[in-house]
Amino acid sequence: MRKLLSLLWLVALISGQALSAKSVNEPDSAYIFAYSTQKSNGHSGLLYAWSSNRKNWNSIGPEFRFLFSDYGRWGAEKRMVSPYLFQGPDNLWHCVWSLNEKDGVFAHAVSKDLIYWKPQTYPEVMKGGNCLQPEVSYDRAHALYVITWLSEKSQGTEAYTVTTKDFKTYTSTKSVPVAARLNSREKIFVNGNEETGVVRKVAWSTVESLLNKQKLEAYRGKLFSESPKDDATRFANLKPLEATVSVNSADAKKISDKLVGVFFEDINYAADGGLYAELIQNRGFEYNPGDKEGRDKSWNSTKAWSLNGTKAEFLIDTISPLHVNNKHFALLKITEPGAGLVNEGFDGIALNEGDKYDFSIFVRNSDGRAKKLLIRLVNAKGELFGETTIATNSTTWKKYNAVIVAKKGIADARLEIVPQSAGTVALDMISLFPQKTFNGRKNGLRADLAQLITDIHPRFVRFPGGCVSHGDGLGNIYRWKNTIGPLEARKPMRNLWGYHQSMGLGYYEYFQFCEDMGAAPLPVIAAGVPCQNSATGGAGQQGGVPMCEMDQYVQDILDLIEWANGDAKTKWGKLRAEAGHPKPFNLKYIGIGNEDLINDIFEERFSMIYKAIKAKYPEITVIGTVGPNSEGTDYTEGWEIASRLGVPMVDEHYYQSVGWFINNQDFYDKYDRSKPKVYLGEYASWGSTLANALSEALYMTTLERNGDVVSMSSYAPLLAKEGHTQWNPDMIYFNNTEAKPTVNYYVQKLYGQNSGDQFINGKIKLSDSKEELAKRVSMSAVRDSKTGDLIVKLVNILPVEINTKVSLEGVGTVLSSAVKSVLTGNINEKNQKPEISTITVGKEFNCTMPAYSFTVIRMKTK
Ligand code: AHR
Repeated sequence: MRKLLSLLWLVALISGQALSAKSVNEPDSAYIFAYSTQKSNGHSGLLYAWSSNRKNWNSIGPEFRFLFSDYGRWGAEKRMVSPYLFQGPDNLWHCVWSLNEKDGVFAHAVSKDLIYWKPQTYPEVMKGGNCLQPEVSYDRAHALYVITWLSEKSQGTEAYTVTTKDFKTYTSTKSVPVAARLNSREKIFVNGNEETGVVRKVAWSTVESLLNKQKLEAYRGKLFSESPKDDATRFANLKPLEATVSVNSADAKKISDKLVGVFFEDINYAADGGLYAELIQNRGFEYNPGDKEGRDKSWNSTKAWSLNGTKAEFLIDTISPLHVNNKHFALLKITEPGAGLVNEGFDGIALNEGDKYDFSIFVRNSDGRAKKLLIRLVNAKGELFGETTIATNSTTWKKYNAVIVAKKGIADARLEIVPQSAGTVALDMISLFPQKTFNGRKNGLRADLAQLITDIHPRFVRFPGGCVSHGDGLGNIYRWKNTIGPLEARKPMRNLWGYHQSMGLGYYEYFQFCEDMGAAPLPVIAAGVPCQNSATGGAGQQGGVPMCEMDQYVQDILDLIEWANGDAKTKWGKLRAEAGHPKPFNLKYIGIGNEDLINDIFEERFSMIYKAIKAKYPEITVIGTVGPNSEGTDYTEGWEIASRLGVPMVDEHYYQSVGWFINNQDFYDKYDRSKPKVYLGEYASWGSTLANALSEALYMTTLERNGDVVSMSSYAPLLAKEGHTQWNPDMIYFNNTEAKPTVNYYVQKLYGQNSGDQFINGKIKLSDSKEELAKRVSMSAVRDSKTGDLIVKLVNILPVEINTKVSLEGVGTVLSSAVKSVLTGNINEKNQKPEISTITVGKEFNCTMPAYSFTVIRMKTK
């Protein structure tokens, strides 16, 4: 970034002829026109044009957005209509705008410089009417800001007004004559389009800084769109290079030993139908049209179930359910035996020949008659792959278990339950699990996926999200207490990614998985606010847990810590022990919030939670949140709050281009070491080609270099089921029979398996020192103090090989045999895997970095 600033001068010099000409004969002041173009129906945010004479207007950028409205749900709802800009007596700029044509709400934001805007607020001022063309002025006599607007409610006969001192509290709405309005919006042609907005006189330096901001962003945009796709022309005549890598342990520093972890979120069918090994879809008959916001008529209690045969009826009932959290169950009315209730699984049920499967079911013989149930695994033609029978004799809900052995393997079997006599039977929680789960756990995880995750050697696992943690609206916030205990008593819920969470993979299973992998659990709990895009907190806003419920909300979080760490005599520790884990889980980290909208609602709740945890459990590291981007209002405000409160660590998220990663290698070099540590909780470059993976590998050398401030990192998202993705790219794709790790996975695995707790300073010097070459080549060296191993990582995102001489100083005696892993291939392709070999090393050795490659050399030292 530092480089970017100096480059800005260059840009101004080269391309800013008009700008530099003006600096010779610079005006004192100029005019700006603030508007939001109606061409895009208000989706382009706040734009400016400038003029020195108020007649000829120049747009800033083609349409450079200085402020974007946060209001409403994802996408189309986020609009800025009729912005009105006003400078207050304290010189702060206020912008108010309409959000749409229906809500009785206006938006407000404030800025010192017209560039950085503080968090937006949306006062609800017009019950039962809309709020159009708001304008703001200042009443000096009363030291008040006056906001007026029009509304269709009065059909233009009157206007409405509120006043405020601070844009936090407002007087109640009053009507005023329309003539009392300023009506100072103007129509101006910008780039040939007539736009409506407000003209303000400003110092020339203000215009200059707006122009510079746009130029800087344009320049950054150009850098960040750099991609190896253009390398054929960019590096047309490039010849193989030479490099020297010198590593000197004199400058070693301690770095985090938890740098590489994983982020698990139930997105893309990562849990039900994915990592959670349950093979029956909708086992509790709890699918609900609301899971898909009513968009799919077939998504209900019968989803994935059907009746095969005649003389029978399949109904969904809710009278006397198995558990209050599991209201729906199946009722089978058999007139003549033969028909069966069929479950199609998640895209079928995959079986392996000879493997055993645990079947279980809750049955209630509603007609009072004992019944035999035939349980069959069949293919579409009815061919049998395994079966068992269950004798049911209870007239109240009772669980029955059986084991089915698969006679043959098949990718897409189905399960059939065939009552062997006439009558009525109620069925619920129908389940089929492979016995071969990861670590053989009951209610366990799919072994192949869990093993791939384990192979990364993650030092921690963040769960259950992501957006799943904070949910789509208050009612959808993930509540850990709903996910523990007997499966039939867990509370299923809509997954905000548009499907259903059975909660079979709940907090107990997450903690168990962490323990099985030797990874630290890192649960993320909503900061009392739902997703910034949920807009279900009233009038298009996210809202927050009502303050009168916050004490209980905070208590639930404290209870989680007791559940995880308390001994078996404590109230919550007892539940953990009863579930099968008497020893504490040793929880050390807890995330509060997930890339939330950082505003007053957030701050009030976050502070309350943070302070309560700190007071009761000072040993727990609380990880705060700083929004969904590497910059911007949420990032800045989130950092400000975390620094002020002394939060030990914050969670940063950014999904970026290959060019961004290449051009931001100093991102953490400039971080203030006295401020909170960083957990880079979600990051990835947009894609699954080798180019993406190498840009991540390159950036990770900088994470290691900054391992004193970056304590943890996790690529995101982790898992995606083919045909059910809501987010691409992901680290591991899978279907029912195969797991398909991406090349990005192998980068994570190479880092996870070759991480250290000491960073050893090293330098790489290329035979050609051009910056465009240097920034595509990177190295880092770490030592793992447990093994004493020295690990050197080399990344080359150039189309030529680099003959490299490595020299090691002060690292002790290096044993001659080292392990080299190389990930390389066609930069635009996917699916490369590392090749591993043994090489001879010493204090000095030669090694070639192939074109487009990531090389890891692991050396033993004495
Ligand atoms: O990783 C996918 C999503 O990206 C996460 O749920 C959310 O935190 C982020 O926006």
